[in-house]
Amino acid sequence: QRPPATIVFIFGGSGDLNFRKLTPALYNLFLDGYLPEQFDVVGIGRSDYNDDTFRERLAEGIDEFSRRKNGPENAWATFSPHVGYLRMDGGDAAAYHLIADRVKAREAEWGAPANIIFYMSVAPQLVPGIATNLSQLSFCGDKNRVRIVVEKPFGHDLQSARELNALLLSHFAEEQIYRIDHYLGKETVQNLLALRFANTLFEPIWNHNYVEYVQLTAAETVGLEGRGGYYEGSGALRDMIQNHLLQLLCMVAMEPPTSFEADEIRNKKVDVLRAMRRVAPDQVDTIAVRGQYGTGEKAGKPSPAYRQEEGVNPESMTETFAAVTFFCDNWRWEGTPFYVRTGKHLAAKSSVITVQFRPAPHYAFPNEASKTWQHNCLIISIQPDMNIRLRFQAKRPGQTLALDPVEMEFNYDTSFKEQQPEAYETLLLDVMAGDATLFMRADQVDEAWQIVMPILDHWAAQTDPAAMPIYAPGSWGPDEASKLTERDGFSWMNG
Ligand code: BG6
Repeated sequence: QRPPATIVFIFGGSGDLNFRKLTPALYNLFLDGYLPEQFDVVGIGRSDYNDDTFRERLAEGIDEFSRRKNGPENAWATFSPHVGYLRMDGGDAAAYHLIADRVKAREAEWGAPANIIFYMSVAPQLVPGIATNLSQLSFCGDKNRVRIVVEKPFGHDLQSARELNALLLSHFAEEQIYRIDHYLGKETVQNLLALRFANTLFEPIWNHNYVEYVQLTAAETVGLEGRGGYYEGSGALRDMIQNHLLQLLCMVAMEPPTSFEADEIRNKKVDVLRAMRRVAPDQVDTIAVRGQYGTGEKAGKPSPAYRQEEGVNPESMTETFAAVTFFCDNWRWEGTPFYVRTGKHLAAKSSVITVQFRPAPHYAFPNEASKTWQHNCLIISIQPDMNIRLRFQAKRPGQTLALDPVEMEFNYDTSFKEQQPEAYETLLLDVMAGDATLFMRADQVDEAWQIVMPILDHWAAQTDPAAMPIYAPGSWGPDEASKLTERDGFSWMNG
C-alpha cells in the first residue's frame, strides 16, 4: 500500500546528504512504485537555485548515486516535476509563509490534504531554530499529518541531547519526531530480528550460558572525506558508537518482542541500554581504548596524519578509533562481554558482528584430533559483504580422526534475486507510512548518551597530545586495542 499524498521538505536541500542519499533514495522508491502519485520533494536552502537549476543539480546526483540510474529512459522526466526548490533562510521566521504557500497550492491542485515531512539535513546547531520557526505554521501540531526527521548527531553530549529533545518535544509530539540512524535501515541489520525471532535455532543458546562474547566491528578504510570540521568536534565514539553500534548491540541483545509495534521494539531496545553497565571514570581505561591515525601510505601515496588534515587542530585529541568493552547487566547477558570497535583508515571496510560460543563442556576426541579446534561462531557480515556464517567442527575425511573447522554460509546474493534497497529508501518510506520502529525514541538517545558520557569525560580530561595512541593507516588500530580482548583471553576477529 502506497503512503498518502506527501510533501517532503528538506532543509539543507542543496547539501551533500540530499545530493548523495535522500533524493536518489526517493527516486529509487518512485521507480519501484512505492511513492504516491501526489508526491513532492522540495529542497530548502540559501543557495541560489530555482526549480529548474535544482533539478539539474539533483539529476547529476542520481546519475552518480542511484542504484536505479539505468532505469527506464523517461524516468527522470517523470520524476523531476515532483522536485522543487524554496530559496529561503531557515533562520528567518518571516520566510516560513513560503512553506505554507507551497503546501496550500499543492493541496488545492491535488484536491486532498497532504502529509508533510520536514527533514533536517542541516548542521545540528540549526535544528532548534528551524523547529521553533516551523512550530508557527498552523498545521505543525497535526500529529496525523506532520512529521519531522532529525539526522545525527543528536546532541553533542547528554546535556545538549536533553536540551534538543526538550525543545523538539515543546513543539512536536514524540510520535511526530523521527530520529534517524541510517544503520537501522540496512537490510542486514533488519535481518537480525528475523534471524533471532523467526527461528527456534538460535534463541535457546543466545545468552551468557552459551555465548562467550560478542564482537561488533564497524571498520572503515576511508578517512575524513572533507568532513574535518565536523569530525574534529565529534570523534569515533560520538560519530559511530553512541548511535550506530549501540543500536546494533541492542538488536543483538534485546529480549524477544511480543509484536512488531514500534513501541514494543523500542521498549525492548531501551531495556538493553538501561541494563548496560555504567563505568566510573577511574575504570574507563580498563574498558575503553582510543587512537588516532598517523602518517602512512595509502594506495602507494603518502597519506597525512589526522592532525595534518584540513579543519583539524595540529594537537588534536579527537579519536579516529575507539574500542569499548560493554557489559549488559541482566539475566540473559551477565558476564558476557560485548567488544565494540570502530575507526577510520583501518585495514578493511567491514561491519561485522561475531557471536562466539563457549567450548563444549567435555571433549572426548583424542588430543591429536582437536589440534585445529575452534570455537563455534556465528559471523554476521553487515557490509560490504552481506552474509551469515556458522562455524563448527567437522571430521576430515580419512582413516585418521582429524577435525577441522568448517562454515555454513547464507549469502544474500545467492539466496535472493531482489536488489537491496538502500537504507535511506527504507527509512524514508517508513516516515511516509508513519512507522517509527526503526527510529530512535527520546529515551533511547538519552540512555545511549548516559552510557558513553563517562568515557567521553575521561578522555576530555586527558589533554597531553603525546598520550594519544597513534596507529598506522591500513592497520587494525592502535596496539592498545588488543589489550581489551586479551585481558579476557580473546582476540579481535579481523577479516
Ligand atoms: C556516518 C558517520 O553516520 O556513518 C560517518 O558520520 C561514517 O563518519 C558513516 O563514515 C558510515 O556509514 P556506512 O553506512 O558507510 O557504514
